[in-house]
Amino acid sequence: MKKLLFLVLIVIFPALVSNAQKDDMVTVNQLIIVANHPGPVISKDIYGHFSEHLGSCIYGGIWVGPDSKIPNTYGIRNDVLFALREMKIPNLRWPGGCFADTYHWKDGIGPKEKRASIVNTNWGGVTEDNSFGTHEFMKLTELAGCDAYISGNVGSGTVREMAEWVEYLTSDADSPMTRLRKENGQEKPWKVKFFAMGNETWGCGGNMTADYYADVLKQFSTYLHSYSGNQLYKVASGASDYDFNWTETLMKDPKTRSMFDAVSLHYYSVPGGWEKKNSATVFTENDWFETFRLNYDMDRIIKTHSGIMDRYDPMKTKGLVVDEWGNWFQVEPGTNPGFLFQQNTMRDAITAAIHLNIFNQHADRVRMANLAQIVNVLQSVILTKGDKMVLTPTYYVFKMFAVHQEARLLSTDLRCEDYTMGDRKIPAISASASVDKDGKIHVSIANLNPKKEIILTCPVIGDTFKTVSGEVLTSGEMNGCNTFEKPETVKSAAFNGASLKDGILTVKMPAKSVVVIELKK
Ligand code: AHR
Repeated sequence: MKKLLFLVLIVIFPALVSNAQKDDMVTVNQLIIVANHPGPVISKDIYGHFSEHLGSCIYGGIWVGPDSKIPNTYGIRNDVLFALREMKIPNLRWPGGCFADTYHWKDGIGPKEKRASIVNTNWGGVTEDNSFGTHEFMKLTELAGCDAYISGNVGSGTVREMAEWVEYLTSDADSPMTRLRKENGQEKPWKVKFFAMGNETWGCGGNMTADYYADVLKQFSTYLHSYSGNQLYKVASGASDYDFNWTETLMKDPKTRSMFDAVSLHYYSVPGGWEKKNSATVFTENDWFETFRLNYDMDRIIKTHSGIMDRYDPMKTKGLVVDEWGNWFQVEPGTNPGFLFQQNTMRDAITAAIHLNIFNQHADRVRMANLAQIVNVLQSVILTKGDKMVLTPTYYVFKMFAVHQEARLLSTDLRCEDYTMGDRKIPAISASASVDKDGKIHVSIANLNPKKEIILTCPVIGDTFKTVSGEVLTSGEMNGCNTFEKPETVKSAAFNGASLKDGILTVKMPAKSVVVIELKK
Protein backbone atom coordinates (compact mmCIF):
# COMPACT_ATOMS: atom_id res chain seq x y z
CA MET A 1 0.00 0.00 0.00
CA LYS A 2 2.80 2.41 0.98
CA LYS A 3 4.69 1.77 -2.25
CA LEU A 4 1.52 2.29 -4.24
CA LEU A 5 0.86 5.59 -2.51
CA PHE A 6 4.37 6.76 -3.25
CA LEU A 7 3.99 5.87 -6.93
CA VAL A 8 0.69 7.74 -7.06
CA LEU A 9 2.45 10.73 -5.55
CA ILE A 10 5.23 10.63 -8.13
CA VAL A 11 2.65 10.69 -10.91
CA ILE A 12 0.56 13.48 -9.36
CA PHE A 13 3.31 15.67 -7.93
CA PRO A 14 6.45 14.93 -9.98
CA ALA A 15 8.17 18.25 -9.28
CA LEU A 16 7.76 17.97 -5.55
CA VAL A 17 9.15 14.45 -5.37
CA SER A 18 11.99 14.84 -7.83
CA ASN A 19 13.31 18.03 -6.24
CA ALA A 20 13.23 16.62 -2.77
CA GLN A 21 14.71 13.31 -3.81
CA LYS A 22 17.39 14.89 -5.97
CA ASP A 23 18.84 16.90 -3.10
CA ASP A 24 18.76 14.53 -0.23
CA MET A 25 16.20 11.87 0.51
CA VAL A 26 16.76 12.38 4.25
CA THR A 27 15.42 15.92 4.12
CA VAL A 28 12.04 14.87 2.65
CA ASN A 29 9.47 15.29 5.35
CA GLN A 30 6.28 14.24 3.78
CA LEU A 31 2.93 12.88 4.91
CA ILE A 32 0.65 11.67 2.13
CA ILE A 33 -2.99 11.74 3.23
CA VAL A 34 -5.54 9.70 1.28
CA ALA A 35 -8.77 11.61 1.91
CA ASN A 36 -11.32 9.55 0.00
CA HIS A 37 -10.92 6.04 1.46
CA PRO A 38 -11.76 6.28 5.15
CA GLY A 39 -10.80 3.27 7.26
CA PRO A 40 -12.02 2.04 10.66
CA VAL A 41 -13.76 4.26 13.19
CA ILE A 42 -11.41 5.57 15.87
CA SER A 43 -13.33 4.66 19.03
CA LYS A 44 -13.76 7.59 21.37
CA ASP A 45 -12.76 5.15 24.12
CA ILE A 46 -9.14 5.26 22.93
CA TYR A 47 -9.15 8.64 24.73
CA GLY A 48 -10.08 7.04 28.07
CA HIS A 49 -8.67 7.62 31.55
CA PHE A 50 -7.91 5.72 34.74
CA SER A 51 -8.58 6.61 38.39
CA GLU A 52 -7.28 4.51 41.28
CA HIS A 53 -7.45 4.75 45.06
CA LEU A 54 -3.79 5.75 45.02
CA GLY A 55 -2.19 8.80 46.63
CA SER A 56 -4.37 11.84 45.99
CA CYS A 57 -6.01 10.68 42.78
CA ILE A 58 -9.44 10.08 44.34
CA TYR A 59 -9.16 11.77 47.76
CA GLY A 60 -8.28 15.43 47.29
CA GLY A 61 -7.90 15.17 43.51
CA ILE A 62 -11.47 14.25 42.64
CA TRP A 63 -13.40 13.75 45.86
CA VAL A 64 -13.40 16.44 48.56
CA GLY A 65 -16.75 15.56 50.15
CA PRO A 66 -19.94 17.64 50.16
CA ASP A 67 -18.88 19.66 53.25
CA SER A 68 -15.62 20.88 51.71
CA LYS A 69 -14.94 24.59 51.15
CA ILE A 70 -13.62 23.63 47.73
CA PRO A 71 -16.53 24.14 45.30
CA ASN A 72 -18.05 20.75 44.59
CA THR A 73 -21.11 18.90 43.34
CA TYR A 74 -22.14 16.00 45.60
CA GLY A 75 -18.56 16.05 46.95
CA ILE A 76 -16.83 16.02 43.54
CA ARG A 77 -14.58 19.00 42.68
CA ASN A 78 -16.24 21.39 40.23
CA ASP A 79 -12.95 22.55 38.68
CA VAL A 80 -11.97 18.97 37.86
CA LEU A 81 -15.44 18.14 36.51
CA PHE A 82 -15.38 21.16 34.24
CA ALA A 83 -11.90 20.30 32.91
CA LEU A 84 -12.88 16.68 32.23
CA ARG A 85 -15.99 17.70 30.31
CA GLU A 86 -13.97 20.21 28.27
CA MET A 87 -11.47 17.48 27.43
CA LYS A 88 -14.37 15.23 26.29
CA ILE A 89 -13.46 12.33 28.55
CA PRO A 90 -15.20 9.26 27.07
CA ASN A 91 -14.74 6.72 29.89
CA LEU A 92 -13.12 6.34 33.28
CA ARG A 93 -11.59 3.18 34.76
CA TRP A 94 -11.95 2.57 38.53
CA PRO A 95 -11.13 1.55 41.35
CA GLY A 96 -7.70 0.27 40.21
CA GLY A 97 -5.13 -0.98 39.24
CA CYS A 98 -3.67 -3.15 41.94
CA PHE A 99 -6.13 -1.61 44.41
CA ALA A 100 -9.03 -3.25 42.55
CA ASP A 101 -7.93 -6.72 43.63
CA THR A 102 -8.04 -5.71 47.30
CA TYR A 103 -11.35 -3.85 46.97
CA HIS A 104 -14.57 -5.26 48.35
CA TRP A 105 -17.36 -3.16 46.94
CA LYS A 106 -19.78 -3.67 49.83
CA ASP A 107 -17.31 -1.77 52.07
CA GLY A 108 -18.04 1.33 49.97
CA ILE A 109 -21.86 1.56 50.02
CA GLY A 110 -24.43 2.73 52.57
CA PRO A 111 -24.13 5.46 55.24
CA LYS A 112 -20.57 6.83 55.32
CA GLU A 113 -20.20 6.47 59.10
CA LYS A 114 -20.95 2.76 58.85
CA ARG A 115 -18.52 2.00 56.02
CA ALA A 116 -15.64 -0.32 56.89
CA SER A 117 -12.10 1.04 56.71
CA ILE A 118 -9.30 -0.98 55.16
CA VAL A 119 -5.55 -0.48 54.71
CA ASN A 120 -4.42 0.34 51.19
CA THR A 121 -1.65 -2.25 51.12
CA ASN A 122 -0.49 -1.44 47.59
CA TRP A 123 -0.18 2.30 47.91
CA GLY A 124 1.51 3.75 50.99
CA GLY A 125 -0.26 1.64 53.65
CA VAL A 126 -2.73 4.46 54.30
CA THR A 127 -6.18 3.93 55.77
CA GLU A 128 -8.92 3.84 53.16
CA ASP A 129 -12.22 4.87 54.74
CA ASN A 130 -14.27 3.93 51.68
CA SER A 131 -16.07 7.28 51.66
CA PHE A 132 -15.73 7.20 47.85
CA GLY A 133 -17.51 4.07 46.64
CA THR A 134 -19.86 2.79 43.96
CA HIS A 135 -22.48 5.55 44.23
CA GLU A 136 -19.88 8.31 44.29
CA PHE A 137 -18.06 6.85 41.27
CA MET A 138 -21.24 6.48 39.24
CA LYS A 139 -22.16 10.09 40.12
CA LEU A 140 -18.71 11.17 38.92
CA THR A 141 -19.20 9.48 35.54
CA GLU A 142 -22.66 11.01 35.20
CA LEU A 143 -21.39 14.53 35.98
CA ALA A 144 -18.32 14.18 33.77
CA GLY A 145 -20.50 12.80 30.95
CA CYS A 146 -18.51 9.60 30.44
CA ASP A 147 -18.97 5.84 30.57
CA ALA A 148 -17.98 3.72 33.54
CA TYR A 149 -15.21 1.12 33.26
CA ILE A 150 -15.22 -0.93 36.45
CA SER A 151 -12.40 -3.29 37.36
CA GLY A 152 -13.65 -6.28 39.38
CA ASN A 153 -11.73 -8.12 42.11
CA VAL A 154 -10.49 -11.51 40.93
CA GLY A 155 -7.34 -11.67 43.09
CA SER A 156 -8.95 -11.62 46.55
CA GLY A 157 -12.65 -11.53 45.73
CA THR A 158 -15.20 -14.22 45.00
CA VAL A 159 -17.29 -15.01 41.97
CA ARG A 160 -20.42 -14.28 44.01
CA GLU A 161 -19.10 -10.88 45.12
CA MET A 162 -18.39 -9.82 41.54
CA ALA A 163 -21.67 -11.20 40.21
CA GLU A 164 -23.59 -9.33 42.92
CA TRP A 165 -21.78 -6.09 42.11
CA VAL A 166 -22.91 -6.27 38.49
CA GLU A 167 -26.44 -7.08 39.65
CA TYR A 168 -26.43 -4.20 42.16
CA LEU A 169 -25.24 -1.80 39.47
CA THR A 170 -27.30 -2.78 36.46
CA SER A 171 -30.35 -4.94 37.23
CA ASP A 172 -33.90 -3.64 37.56
CA ALA A 173 -35.35 -6.98 38.69
CA ASP A 174 -36.57 -7.31 42.27
CA SER A 175 -33.69 -8.97 44.15
CA PRO A 176 -31.76 -8.59 47.39
CA MET A 177 -29.04 -6.64 45.55
CA THR A 178 -31.41 -4.27 43.77
CA ARG A 179 -33.33 -3.68 47.02
CA LEU A 180 -30.06 -2.85 48.73
CA ARG A 181 -29.24 -0.36 45.97
CA LYS A 182 -32.64 1.30 46.37
CA GLU A 183 -32.19 1.49 50.17
CA ASN A 184 -28.93 3.33 49.44
CA GLY A 185 -30.77 5.93 47.41
CA GLN A 186 -30.45 4.72 43.82
CA GLU A 187 -33.83 3.64 42.49
CA LYS A 188 -32.93 3.04 38.85
CA PRO A 189 -30.07 0.80 37.73
CA TRP A 190 -27.06 2.47 36.17
CA LYS A 191 -25.58 1.69 32.80
CA VAL A 192 -22.10 0.18 33.06
CA LYS A 193 -20.45 -0.19 29.68
CA PHE A 194 -17.11 -1.83 30.52
CA PHE A 195 -16.25 -4.41 33.18
CA ALA A 196 -12.80 -5.97 33.72
CA MET A 197 -12.34 -9.44 35.16
CA GLY A 198 -9.23 -8.71 37.21
CA ASN A 199 -6.17 -6.52 36.81
CA GLU A 200 -2.60 -7.69 36.21
CA THR A 201 -3.54 -11.22 37.26
CA TRP A 202 0.06 -12.20 36.40
CA GLY A 203 1.20 -9.85 39.24
CA CYS A 204 -0.61 -7.88 41.96
CA GLY A 205 -3.92 -9.38 40.85
CA GLY A 206 -3.08 -12.91 42.02
CA ASN A 207 0.31 -13.93 40.56
CA MET A 208 -1.33 -16.47 38.27
CA THR A 209 0.00 -18.25 35.23
CA ALA A 210 -1.76 -17.57 31.93
CA ASP A 211 -3.24 -21.10 31.88
CA TYR A 212 -4.56 -20.82 35.42
CA TYR A 213 -6.08 -17.38 34.74
CA ALA A 214 -7.75 -18.69 31.57
CA ASP A 215 -9.75 -21.08 33.78
CA VAL A 216 -10.46 -18.49 36.49
CA LEU A 217 -11.64 -16.06 33.80
CA LYS A 218 -14.15 -18.61 32.46
CA GLN A 219 -15.49 -19.16 35.95
CA PHE A 220 -15.98 -15.44 36.72
CA SER A 221 -17.32 -14.58 33.30
CA THR A 222 -20.00 -17.28 33.48
CA TYR A 223 -21.75 -15.35 36.26
CA LEU A 224 -21.43 -11.80 34.92
CA HIS A 225 -24.70 -11.09 33.19
CA SER A 226 -25.96 -8.27 31.01
CA TYR A 227 -29.11 -7.17 32.86
CA SER A 228 -32.03 -4.97 31.92
CA GLY A 229 -30.78 -3.72 28.56
CA ASN A 230 -27.26 -3.01 29.83
CA GLN A 231 -24.70 -4.65 27.53
CA LEU A 232 -21.51 -5.44 29.49
CA TYR A 233 -18.31 -5.27 27.47
CA LYS A 234 -16.15 -7.81 29.33
CA VAL A 235 -12.40 -7.24 29.44
CA ALA A 236 -10.03 -10.10 30.28
CA SER A 237 -6.92 -9.25 32.29
CA GLY A 238 -4.21 -9.27 29.63
CA ALA A 239 -0.48 -9.14 29.14
CA SER A 240 2.24 -6.87 30.32
CA ASP A 241 4.49 -5.40 27.63
CA TYR A 242 6.14 -8.18 25.62
CA ASP A 243 4.42 -11.17 27.27
CA PHE A 244 3.03 -12.50 24.01
CA ASN A 245 2.41 -15.96 25.47
CA TRP A 246 -0.29 -14.45 27.73
CA THR A 247 -2.30 -13.19 24.74
CA GLU A 248 -1.71 -16.46 22.89
CA THR A 249 -3.05 -18.46 25.85
CA LEU A 250 -6.23 -16.40 26.17
CA MET A 251 -6.90 -16.33 22.43
CA LYS A 252 -6.09 -19.87 21.30
CA ASP A 253 -8.93 -21.75 22.98
CA PRO A 254 -12.36 -20.98 21.47
CA LYS A 255 -14.14 -21.56 24.81
CA THR A 256 -11.89 -19.10 26.65
CA ARG A 257 -12.20 -16.62 23.80
CA SER A 258 -15.97 -16.75 23.96
CA MET A 259 -15.85 -15.50 27.56
CA PHE A 260 -14.58 -11.98 26.84
CA ASP A 261 -15.05 -9.10 24.41
CA ALA A 262 -11.53 -7.74 24.74
CA VAL A 263 -8.18 -8.51 26.25
CA SER A 264 -6.16 -5.83 28.02
CA LEU A 265 -2.53 -4.77 27.68
CA HIS A 266 -0.35 -2.67 30.01
CA TYR A 267 2.79 -0.89 28.89
CA TYR A 268 4.62 1.90 30.74
CA SER A 269 7.66 3.82 29.49
CA VAL A 270 10.23 3.95 32.28
CA PRO A 271 13.37 5.74 31.03
CA GLY A 272 16.33 4.84 33.22
CA GLY A 273 14.66 1.56 34.25
CA TRP A 274 12.64 0.70 37.39
CA GLU A 275 15.64 1.11 39.73
CA LYS A 276 16.89 4.48 38.45
CA LYS A 277 13.81 6.14 37.03
CA ASN A 278 14.15 9.61 35.43
CA SER A 279 13.12 12.73 37.28
CA ALA A 280 9.95 14.12 35.65
CA THR A 281 11.44 17.63 35.37
CA VAL A 282 15.23 17.46 35.63
CA PHE A 283 16.47 15.52 32.62
CA THR A 284 18.88 15.63 29.71
CA GLU A 285 18.25 15.51 25.97
CA ASN A 286 19.38 11.89 26.12
CA ASP A 287 16.53 11.16 28.58
CA TRP A 288 14.13 13.05 26.31
CA PHE A 289 15.20 10.91 23.35
CA GLU A 290 15.13 7.67 25.34
CA THR A 291 11.58 8.39 26.57
CA PHE A 292 10.31 8.69 23.00
CA ARG A 293 12.28 5.63 21.89
CA LEU A 294 10.44 3.67 24.58
CA ASN A 295 7.11 5.31 23.66
CA TYR A 296 7.47 4.21 20.03
CA ASP A 297 7.78 0.60 21.27
CA MET A 298 4.05 0.71 21.91
CA ASP A 299 3.58 0.33 18.15
CA ARG A 300 5.66 -2.85 17.98
CA ILE A 301 3.98 -4.26 21.09
CA ILE A 302 0.47 -3.65 19.71
CA LYS A 303 1.42 -5.06 16.31
CA THR A 304 2.70 -8.29 17.86
CA HIS A 305 -0.25 -8.82 20.26
CA SER A 306 -2.63 -7.89 17.48
CA GLY A 307 -0.91 -10.30 15.08
CA ILE A 308 -1.50 -13.14 17.58
CA MET A 309 -5.14 -12.09 17.90
CA ASP A 310 -5.48 -12.01 14.08
CA ARG A 311 -4.58 -15.71 13.89
CA TYR A 312 -7.58 -16.68 16.03
CA ASP A 313 -9.88 -13.75 15.30
CA PRO A 314 -9.20 -12.51 11.74
CA MET A 315 -12.48 -10.57 11.68
CA LYS A 316 -11.27 -8.57 14.70
CA THR A 317 -14.35 -9.20 16.81
CA LYS A 318 -12.22 -9.05 19.97
CA GLY A 319 -10.71 -5.77 21.07
CA LEU A 320 -7.31 -4.93 22.48
CA VAL A 321 -7.72 -2.57 25.44
CA VAL A 322 -4.55 -0.72 26.48
CA ASP A 323 -5.94 0.18 29.89
CA GLU A 324 -2.67 1.39 31.43
CA TRP A 325 -0.05 3.40 29.55
CA GLY A 326 2.16 6.44 30.05
CA ASN A 327 5.50 7.68 31.41
CA TRP A 328 6.53 6.50 34.87
CA PHE A 329 9.11 8.80 36.53
CA GLN A 330 10.47 9.35 40.05
CA VAL A 331 8.01 10.89 42.50
CA GLU A 332 8.46 14.61 43.17
CA PRO A 333 11.05 15.24 45.92
CA GLY A 334 9.52 15.24 49.40
CA THR A 335 6.35 13.36 48.39
CA ASN A 336 5.27 9.90 49.59
CA PRO A 337 6.97 7.30 47.32
CA GLY A 338 3.78 5.21 47.49
CA PHE A 339 1.69 8.05 46.02
CA LEU A 340 3.36 8.21 42.57
CA PHE A 341 2.97 11.98 42.26
CA GLN A 342 5.02 13.33 39.32
CA GLN A 343 5.13 16.62 37.42
CA ASN A 344 4.23 16.72 33.74
CA THR A 345 6.20 18.56 31.05
CA MET A 346 6.40 19.14 27.32
CA ARG A 347 8.10 15.71 27.20
CA ASP A 348 4.86 14.11 28.48
CA ALA A 349 2.82 16.06 25.93
CA ILE A 350 4.86 14.56 23.09
CA THR A 351 4.59 11.13 24.72
CA ALA A 352 0.79 11.52 24.71
CA ALA A 353 0.81 12.55 21.04
CA ILE A 354 3.00 9.57 20.03
CA HIS A 355 0.71 7.12 21.88
CA LEU A 356 -2.57 8.58 20.65
CA ASN A 357 -1.28 8.57 17.05
CA ILE A 358 -0.28 4.91 17.48
CA PHE A 359 -3.69 3.98 18.93
CA ASN A 360 -5.44 5.82 16.07
CA GLN A 361 -3.34 3.89 13.55
CA HIS A 362 -4.45 0.62 15.20
CA ALA A 363 -8.12 1.59 15.46
CA ASP A 364 -9.13 -1.68 13.80
CA ARG A 365 -8.02 -3.60 16.92
CA VAL A 366 -7.47 -1.09 19.74
CA ARG A 367 -10.97 -0.33 21.06
CA MET A 368 -10.04 1.44 24.26
CA ALA A 369 -7.00 2.90 26.02
CA ASN A 370 -6.63 4.50 29.45
CA LEU A 371 -3.84 6.86 30.43
CA ALA A 372 -2.37 6.19 33.89
CA GLN A 373 -3.67 8.14 35.71
CA ILE A 374 -6.18 10.97 35.60
CA VAL A 375 -5.33 13.23 38.58
CA ASN A 376 -2.15 13.54 40.73
CA VAL A 377 -0.75 10.10 39.81
CA LEU A 378 1.86 9.26 37.12
CA GLN A 379 1.25 11.03 33.77
CA SER A 380 -1.81 12.96 34.92
CA VAL A 381 -3.90 15.37 32.92
CA ILE A 382 -4.71 17.31 36.11
CA LEU A 383 -2.74 18.20 39.24
CA THR A 384 -4.35 19.57 42.41
CA LYS A 385 -3.09 21.10 45.65
CA GLY A 386 -5.77 22.14 48.14
CA ASP A 387 -8.19 24.33 46.22
CA LYS A 388 -5.71 24.88 43.34
CA MET A 389 -5.78 22.94 40.08
CA VAL A 390 -3.47 22.95 37.06
CA LEU A 391 -3.98 21.40 33.66
CA THR A 392 -0.85 19.62 32.49
CA PRO A 393 0.68 19.68 28.97
CA THR A 394 -0.73 16.14 28.56
CA TYR A 395 -4.24 17.56 29.21
CA TYR A 396 -3.92 19.92 26.25
CA VAL A 397 -2.91 17.07 23.93
CA PHE A 398 -6.02 15.08 24.89
CA LYS A 399 -8.17 18.15 24.34
CA MET A 400 -6.62 18.90 20.94
CA PHE A 401 -6.84 15.25 19.80
CA ALA A 402 -10.52 14.90 20.85
CA VAL A 403 -11.45 15.74 17.23
CA HIS A 404 -10.40 12.18 16.32
CA GLN A 405 -13.04 10.63 18.61
CA GLU A 406 -15.48 8.56 16.48
CA ALA A 407 -13.91 9.90 13.26
CA ARG A 408 -12.64 7.48 10.60
CA LEU A 409 -8.95 6.79 10.25
CA LEU A 410 -7.35 7.94 7.00
CA SER A 411 -4.56 6.11 5.28
CA THR A 412 -1.29 8.03 5.52
CA ASP A 413 2.25 7.48 4.36
CA LEU A 414 4.90 9.23 6.45
CA ARG A 415 8.46 9.71 5.26
CA CYS A 416 10.52 11.84 7.59
CA GLU A 417 13.98 12.55 8.81
CA ASP A 418 15.38 10.79 11.85
CA TYR A 419 15.89 12.32 15.23
CA THR A 420 19.28 10.96 16.25
CA MET A 421 21.15 10.56 19.52
CA GLY A 422 24.64 9.10 19.09
CA ASP A 423 24.12 6.01 16.97
CA ARG A 424 20.42 5.67 17.86
CA LYS A 425 17.63 7.06 15.74
CA ILE A 426 13.85 7.35 15.81
CA PRO A 427 11.42 9.10 13.43
CA ALA A 428 11.40 12.83 14.20
CA ILE A 429 7.70 13.06 13.32
CA SER A 430 4.67 11.17 14.64
CA ALA A 431 1.34 11.63 12.84
CA SER A 432 -2.16 10.34 12.14
CA ALA A 433 -5.21 11.66 10.29
CA SER A 434 -8.96 11.14 10.35
CA VAL A 435 -12.12 12.39 8.68
CA ASP A 436 -15.11 13.27 10.87
CA LYS A 437 -18.82 12.89 10.15
CA ASP A 438 -18.95 16.43 8.67
CA GLY A 439 -16.16 15.67 6.20
CA LYS A 440 -13.51 17.71 8.04
CA ILE A 441 -10.01 16.25 8.10
CA HIS A 442 -7.86 16.41 11.22
CA VAL A 443 -4.14 15.74 11.16
CA SER A 444 -2.28 15.37 14.45
CA ILE A 445 1.48 15.76 14.30
CA ALA A 446 4.33 15.86 16.81
CA ASN A 447 7.87 17.11 16.16
CA LEU A 448 10.13 15.28 18.62
CA ASN A 449 13.28 17.25 17.80
CA PRO A 450 13.80 19.78 20.61
CA LYS A 451 16.12 22.00 18.52
CA LYS A 452 14.85 22.01 14.98
CA GLU A 453 11.80 23.29 13.14
CA ILE A 454 10.58 20.75 10.56
CA ILE A 455 8.59 21.60 7.47
CA LEU A 456 6.17 18.80 6.71
CA THR A 457 4.64 18.63 3.23
CA CYS A 458 1.31 16.81 3.08
CA PRO A 459 -0.20 16.05 -0.33
CA VAL A 460 -3.91 15.46 0.24
CA ILE A 461 -5.12 12.94 -2.31
CA GLY A 462 -8.69 12.16 -3.35
CA ASP A 463 -10.57 15.24 -2.23
CA THR A 464 -10.20 19.02 -2.18
CA PHE A 465 -10.26 21.36 0.78
CA LYS A 466 -10.47 25.13 0.96
CA THR A 467 -9.51 26.22 4.43
CA VAL A 468 -6.88 25.27 6.95
CA SER A 469 -6.62 26.11 10.65
CA GLY A 470 -4.84 24.60 13.60
CA GLU A 471 -3.79 24.52 17.23
CA VAL A 472 -0.29 24.15 18.62
CA LEU A 473 1.25 23.15 21.93
CA THR A 474 4.91 23.97 22.41
CA SER A 475 7.32 25.24 25.01
CA GLY A 476 10.62 27.13 25.15
CA GLU A 477 12.06 24.37 27.31
CA MET A 478 11.97 20.58 27.07
CA ASN A 479 10.88 20.54 30.70
CA GLY A 480 8.36 23.38 30.38
CA CYS A 481 5.49 22.64 32.76
CA ASN A 482 2.55 24.19 34.60
CA THR A 483 2.96 24.75 38.33
CA PHE A 484 0.54 25.94 41.00
CA GLU A 485 2.41 29.27 40.96
CA LYS A 486 2.50 29.53 37.14
CA PRO A 487 -0.39 27.39 35.89
CA GLU A 488 -0.47 28.60 32.28
CA THR A 489 3.13 28.30 31.09
CA VAL A 490 2.40 25.51 28.60
CA LYS A 491 -1.00 25.71 26.94
CA SER A 492 -2.44 25.27 23.47
CA ALA A 493 -2.78 28.26 21.16
CA ALA A 494 -4.01 29.03 17.66
CA PHE A 495 -1.51 27.89 15.02
CA ASN A 496 -0.64 29.96 11.98
CA GLY A 497 2.17 27.83 10.56
CA ALA A 498 0.04 25.86 8.10
CA SER A 499 -0.93 26.67 4.52
CA LEU A 500 -2.88 24.90 1.80
CA LYS A 501 -2.14 25.32 -1.90
CA ASP A 502 -2.97 23.15 -4.91
CA GLY A 503 -3.92 20.22 -2.70
CA ILE A 504 -0.73 20.36 -0.68
CA LEU A 505 -0.82 21.16 3.01
CA THR A 506 2.44 22.58 4.35
CA VAL A 507 3.00 22.59 8.11
CA LYS A 508 5.91 24.38 9.76
CA MET A 509 6.32 22.32 12.91
CA PRO A 510 8.13 24.27 15.63
CA ALA A 511 10.83 22.37 17.52
CA LYS A 512 9.29 20.16 20.29
CA SER A 513 5.69 20.73 19.38
CA VAL A 514 2.34 19.06 18.93
CA VAL A 515 0.01 20.43 16.24
CA VAL A 516 -3.53 19.48 15.20
CA ILE A 517 -4.63 20.75 11.78
CA GLU A 518 -8.20 21.03 10.51
CA LEU A 519 -9.02 21.01 6.79
CA LYS A 520 -12.49 22.13 5.68
CA LYS A 521 -14.18 22.11 2.29
O1 AHR B 1 -0.92 2.68 37.70
C1 AHR B 1 -0.22 2.23 38.82
C2 AHR B 1 -0.19 0.71 38.91
O2 AHR B 1 0.54 0.19 37.83
C3 AHR B 1 -1.51 0.00 38.81
O3 AHR B 1 -2.16 -0.05 40.03
C4 AHR B 1 -1.13 -1.36 38.38
O4 AHR B 1 -2.15 -2.01 37.66
C5 AHR B 1 0.13 -1.13 37.55
O5 AHR B 1 1.13 -2.01 37.89
